Amino acid sequence: MDKIIVLDFGSQYSHLICRRIREANVFCEIYPFNLTSEQIKEISPSGIIFSGGPASVYTENSPKPDKKIFELGIPILGICYGHQILVDNFKGKVKRSNTREYGKSILTIDDKSDLFKNFDGSINCWMSHGDTAESIPIGFKVLAHTESSFSAAIGNQEKKFYGIQFHPEVIHTERGFEILKNFSIHVSKAKPEWNIMNFIETSMENIKKTVGNDKILCAVSGGIDSTTVAVLLNQAVHDNLQCIFVNHGLLRYDEESLVMNLLTKIGLNVLYIDASKRFLTKLKGVTDPEEKRKIIGREFINVFQEEVNNEKEQFQWLAQGTLYPDVIESGISLGPASIIKTHHNVGGLPTILNLKVLEPLRYLYKDEVKKVAKVLEVPDELLNRHPFPGPGLAVRIIGGITPEKIRISKHASKIVEDELVSANLYNSVWQAYAAVGDDRAVGVVGDGRLYGNIVIIRVVNSIDAMTADWTKLPYDILERMSNRITNEVEGVSWVTYAISSKPPSTIEPQ
Ligand code: XMP
Repeated sequence: MDKIIVLDFGSQYSHLICRRIREANVFCEIYPFNLTSEQIKEISPSGIIFSGGPASVYTENSPKPDKKIFELGIPILGICYGHQILVDNFKGKVKRSNTREYGKSILTIDDKSDLFKNFDGSINCWMSHGDTAESIPIGFKVLAHTESSFSAAIGNQEKKFYGIQFHPEVIHTERGFEILKNFSIHVSKAKPEWNIMNFIETSMENIKKTVGNDKILCAVSGGIDSTTVAVLLNQAVHDNLQCIFVNHGLLRYDEESLVMNLLTKIGLNVLYIDASKRFLTKLKGVTDPEEKRKIIGREFINVFQEEVNNEKEQFQWLAQGTLYPDVIESGISLGPASIIKTHHNVGGLPTILNLKVLEPLRYLYKDEVKKVAKVLEVPDELLNRHPFPGPGLAVRIIGGITPEKIRISKHASKIVEDELVSANLYNSVWQAYAAVGDDRAVGVVGDGRLYGNIVIIRVVNSIDAMTADWTKLPYDILERMSNRITNEVEGVSWVTYAISSKPPSTIEPQ
């Protein structure tokens, strides 16, 4: 399939660029900036995008691409820092500008071919840069300008190298999507072949080809990702698939029976394992969030290992619902994106398991997985449930995990969810729960004093969990949640609402 690749120079927006291009039905992948021209030749992309990044091209050791990339005859689009790389490489001049351009600017289009095909006049664009091109290289011409950037877009139309100082991938740039689409389809001639039906068909073929008659063990949680993997595999290799649902004791209210019922109903062969005791024993006294994740990850492996040993059937594969952002956020891509949280399910399997890993959704974003699930007729009851982290309540309980805190978080979260359902808001928020830590506050219950737990309600809106806004819930709903939690959940004296967004916070507190 034709594809565009993004070389990541450390931009926050590399994912956005990639998603926008896929929205134009062209397959797109992110790679580290230092991919060699040989590697690129092997990947054989139709076009290359240099992302933005925090560095300055004139500082020592700033990230630069392999110079031979420019000899491959592949169209290149440099965005922001990527634009400056092009200017610098072809002997134009980049310097620190006197006026940092940050926010909206008016971009006047001077050349309506190529990148700005079908554009007219001017558009609003979004700038964020301290460096600017003072002179442009020979062979390049100005395609668009703003009041303070005479070379906001430049191009060498013969070589098909383009540089733009603004960010077309962000929503604040009007028609930015069309600029990326023009680069991908019109300039790079990538065929728009990427779509969900196509993905499903080729995945099925690949799965069948890869696993042959081997047996696959698939861990399922009832979440969209693992359910979609299981349904995809079930359709591809029905008889050779064994799903396994592990209850680690940190699930949502009554989740185990709900999920087991739903998964069985859609025809999956699921084995239920109650491993709650062993998980909770291993987690006793552990307060560090990363440590919790690692313990849970390891224990999952141990459970799988035992299962593999116990089963008469010999498994060769373990299927997982790893997604593209998990892969990149965990630093597996080798790119400069820093590790934010070690997602428990990413990073490959220890060799002791002796199983090969099957990750059919590894290249997909969450919204794409939802589309796949819809096509595969995963029922809405499963599709519409909020995402839930693999380590479960362990990352919603701040500090040590105790039966008491599990009880509080489970029950209070159930109230938060119920109230959202009653207000018809459950499906319009991304995640909603109640966290609990060790902080206590004094309350009055009846005539008595209660030095009880503080519960933190967190409700967020998000598109892909990469960023999130706290949800501005109506006060009366918050009030009802708070009243019910203090009345119905024993031991809670105070309820608070988390009003920080991601970034700088994350969605889960641990
Ligand atoms: P954060 O807290 O990093 O979470 O903003 C982003 C999204 O990922 C989920 N999450 C996890 N999912 N294993 C998972 O499978 C994990 O270790 C993990 N940590 C966070 C979180 O619920 C949110 O949707």
